[in-house]
Amino acid sequence: MNTVRAIYPGTFDPLTNGHLDLIARGSKIFDHLVVAILKNSDKQPLFSVQERVDMIKETTREFDNVSVSTFDGLLVEFARLQHAQALLRGIRAISDYEYELQMALMNRRLAPELETVFMMPAEQYSYLSSRLIRGVFRLGGSVEGLVPPTVVERLRSRISKDPIEPEK
Ligand code: PNS
Repeated sequence: MNTVRAIYPGTFDPLTNGHLDLIARGSKIFDHLVVAILKNSDKQPLFSVQERVDMIKETTREFDNVSVSTFDGLLVEFARLQHAQALLRGIRAISDYEYELQMALMNRRLAPELETVFMMPAEQYSYLSSRLIRGVFRLGGSVEGLVPPTVVERLRSRISKDPIEPEK
């Protein structure tokens, strides 16, 4: 029997409830889903790659067919190494579409055997992004209910340890 292994790539800095919603949806339609965190994407990330791995592992523990990994370089090369057949990406609003289409078509050119599958997160998450979460957090706003509890906890301990610096 054919099984389908998919990669859900992103920077996940931090994981939001929108990402988690997509992971839950992806885990239902794929046999295995690898959440793949891009290393070295931002010079000043909010969370280190290891912290992001830990938070995503903790949050996705309930899904038997979800694993967490990291990658560098071309996504399609990572997908090949993983023997994946599909890439999963979320589309929240029409504004996401153009960038996602460009990426999907570039990835198709680089690896024609790999299919990009788009899914929509639940509508209550349609405005949510890691960038907004970072911005609100750095300005002292609450992000409770928008990110998983482990992210909230780590943000809280961050406040008690470090002064908050606004994002440049
Ligand atoms: O959800 P994000 O943070 O926008 O994720 C972007 C990501 C990691 C999927 C994208 O930047 C990526 O795939 N980077 C790896 C480099 C690559 O393969 N580039 C060519 C594809 S356009």
